[in-house]
Amino acid sequence: MSSKTNLSQRARRAGGKPIANVLMARTMAQPDLVSLAAAFVDHQSLPIEPTRQALEAVWSQPDRALAAMQYGTTIGHPPLRQTVLEQMLEADGRTAGELSLSVDQVVITTGSTQLLYLVADSLLDPGDIVICGVPSYFVVLGMLGNLGARVIGVEMDADGLIPEALQDELTRLEKAGLLDRVKLVYIVSYYDNPSGITISAERRPKLVEIAQRWSRGSTIHLIEDVAYRELRYWGEDIPSIRSFDPDGRTVSVAGSFSKSFSPGIRGGWGILAPELVEPVLSQKGNLDFGSPSFNQHLMTAVLEKGIFEAHLEKIRETYRQKIETLLEAADEQLAPIGRIEWVRPTGGLYVWLRLPEGIDTGLSGPLFDRAIAEGVLYVPGEYCYPSEGCPIARNMVRLSFGMPSREGIRRGVESLARAIRGVI
Ligand SMILES: Cc1ncc(COP(=O)(O)O)c(C=O)c1O
Repeated sequence: MSSKTNLSQRARRAGGKPIANVLMARTMAQPDLVSLAAAFVDHQSLPIEPTRQALEAVWSQPDRALAAMQYGTTIGHPPLRQTVLEQMLEADGRTAGELSLSVDQVVITTGSTQLLYLVADSLLDPGDIVICGVPSYFVVLGMLGNLGARVIGVEMDADGLIPEALQDELTRLEKAGLLDRVKLVYIVSYYDNPSGITISAERRPKLVEIAQRWSRGSTIHLIEDVAYRELRYWGEDIPSIRSFDPDGRTVSVAGSFSKSFSPGIRGGWGILAPELVEPVLSQKGNLDFGSPSFNQHLMTAVLEKGIFEAHLEKIRETYRQKIETLLEAADEQLAPIGRIEWVRPTGGLYVWLRLPEGIDTGLSGPLFDRAIAEGVLYVPGEYCYPSEGCPIARNMVRLSFGMPSREGIRRGVESLARAIRGVI
C-alpha cells in the first residue's frame, strides 16, 4: 500500500500559481513572442560595470572582503541600514528626529518580497483582514492568501486609493464586529504595480489619519511599498506616506534595490514601526538569520561610491524612452479602436489598460490566446483583484515595458491591437 504525503494547509493554499506557470510556459513555447507580461527590468542596461567597480572597492580592503564572505547579522549590515535610512530621510526632506526614526528600525531583507512576507507573517492569523487598493500587486495578493488572510479590495481612482472608500470599508467591518481582525492596509505609493498610479500628496496624510482613527483595539498597520519610487521619469518626487506619520507607529516602509539597480542582487529593506521590529527579526531568524552578507557589502559600496545615482540616471532615461514608445504606440494603435482607456504613468514599469466592457482578458476568455497567436503576451487584469471587496473587472490588461526593446514594445502593441480587433 503506498502512502501519501500530507501537505500542510499552507502548502496546499500555495499550490497552483497559475499565472507564473502559464505565462512562463507560454513564453518558452514561443520564443518570438513579445512579452509585455514579465515584470523584468531592462536587460541591456543591467549594471555590470558599476557592479565590478563596487566589488573592487570591497575587495581592495581585506577586512571588508572577509566580512562579505562571512555570516552577518539577522538585521543586516549596519552601514547599509544607515544609508537606507539617510536616503529615505533625504528624499522626504525630514530628519530622523522629526520622524522618530533610528537605524534600529531598518532591516535588510532578501528582496522586499521577504520583508512583506515577514511583516504579514508577524501580523496575520488565518481569517485576519488586509485592505488594499484595487487593482493590487498579485504576488502580494498570493502571499496574503497563502497566509490564510482575507484580502478586501477598495476603490482607487487616478489619485490612488480613495480615503472615503477605505473609511466606508472600515465602517462596514466594524458594524460586522470584525474591526479587531483588520491588521494591515497595503499600498504601493509610487507608480503602482499594476495601475501605474501614484497616491496624491493630499491623500497621503488622510490615509494615515484613517488607519490611526480606526486603530481602536489594536493597531492597523499601513505598509507602504516604495519599490518604484526611484523610477520617476517626469515631475517631482513627493514625500512618502511614512513622512506623515511622525511617531511612526502606523506606517512601515518596504523598499527594494531590484528595480533601481539589479533584481539579481535581491536587495530589499524595511523601515519598520517599533512594534514590528522584534517580531520580524524573530521570523527572519527562523528563516535565514540574515540576508547574504556578500550582497549587502556590495550594495553598500554601490551606494557610497555614487554608482547608484549614476546608474539610476541612465535607466531613467532608458525607461522614459520605453514608456514614451508604449504610450505613442497605444495612441496610434489602440485609441482608434475606441473605448480603450489608460492612465499615463509618470514612472514605474506598467501601463494598465481598460478594454471595452465585455472583452474578457482572462486565460479562459477569447483575447488571451488570440494575443499569443498574434505574438504578444500580457498579464490578465483579473489576477490583480483580491477575492473580496471591489468586484473583479474582467476587461483589464497589465502591460510591462521594462524588458522588451522599443521595437519589441511597438510590435507588441500592434499585435495586441490586432488581437483586440479580432475579438470585438
Ligand atoms: C510593488 C512591488 N513590490 C515589491 C516587488 C518585489 O521586489 P523585490 O525584488 O524587492 O522582492 C515588486 C516586484 O515586481 C513589486 O512590483
